[in-house]
Amino acid sequence: MSTPLRASITAVGGYVPETKLTNFDLEKMVDTNDEWIKSRTGISERRILKEPGKASSDMAVKAIEEILRKKHLDPMEIDCIICATVTPDMVFPSTANIIGDKLGAKNAFGFDLGAACSGFLFALTTGSNFIETGRYKKIIVVGVDKMSSIIDYTDRATCIIFGDGAGAVLLEPTTDGLGIQDSILKSDGSGRDYLHIKAGGSLKPASVETVMAKEHYAFQDGQPVFKFAVKGMADVSAELLEKHNLTGDDIAWLVPHQANLRIIDATANRMGLPMEKVMINIQKYGNTTAATIPLCLWEWETKLNKGDNLILAAFGGGFTWGATWLKWAY
Ligand code: UT7
Repeated sequence: MSTPLRASITAVGGYVPETKLTNFDLEKMVDTNDEWIKSRTGISERRILKEPGKASSDMAVKAIEEILRKKHLDPMEIDCIICATVTPDMVFPSTANIIGDKLGAKNAFGFDLGAACSGFLFALTTGSNFIETGRYKKIIVVGVDKMSSIIDYTDRATCIIFGDGAGAVLLEPTTDGLGIQDSILKSDGSGRDYLHIKAGGSLKPASVETVMAKEHYAFQDGQPVFKFAVKGMADVSAELLEKHNLTGDDIAWLVPHQANLRIIDATANRMGLPMEKVMINIQKYGNTTAATIPLCLWEWETKLNKGDNLILAAFGGGFTWGATWLKWAY
């Protein structure tokens, strides 16, 4: 039997801005403290893109340029750029278009994909499906968010959690059995009330009133999101393992969305995985939304071995959630 055509990740790039926003900085801005933030979320600091005139596309370009350098790749060889983000440079055109222009990837078509914190998984699965058609050879999937552009730094419910960053992967075809094996993706729009931006869309266009009411900032009702996230991320990861008769012993690494250390703990527990097999960098970067998972892959790249089974798992606004099983290809 011939091995099916699959997509494998053949390179990873990442970028986080230099400016750090620590828990101690936040103590001076809102009624919070380092102890509370660390014990409730696991976060100590996050990165903020401070430079005026810089946007999500600039972070994405930096992450992708690392891939181009590592692979000695000409931007003209890229077939497609899929950008997962909730903080596009502009409402339109898509940030993927802007990234393509800044990179000089003139042969690539591109589009943005909005699935909030699950955006990277949704985009990875989409890119992988394009590769499996046999028509595309090199696809960039980038998860990027400049969360600082939609955070109200007087709202302690959100400002302690989010940070800025970008992570990207290159997808290429393979028939060696490695690469992306399967994904289970889920959406439930009834969750939109708990995590959203109220104004600036077609429902409630931006106006002086909406800005005065701070409705252009991200709103989160943390507790219900937390409950859905714990259940959603753990359930879908367990479902993916069961579907393929895998157990925690078969898995080399869990790569979870970094929203809250307690959600990560619950997911690892449910999968029967010790914490040594879980990628965690939430303490340094906070929740970078679409960038958390590729930023973990970026940081752990040198520790990964060919053939390692990885489970990528996410939960986010929408609600959206999902898990992907892949075999590391290099
Ligand atoms: O990534 C996309 C999906 N998002 C998530 O997965 C996030 C899910 N939610 C969470 O991670 C958590 O709900 C938060 C970290 C946002 C909040 O943690 P929590 O344990 O759910 O806190 P809470 O909202 O239930 O508040 C507990 C207490 C309250 O005080 P009382 O009523 O018990 O006296 C809050 O007023 O902590 C208080 N509190 C704070 N105290 C210090 C809430 N926020 C803060 C704060 N600093 N920043």
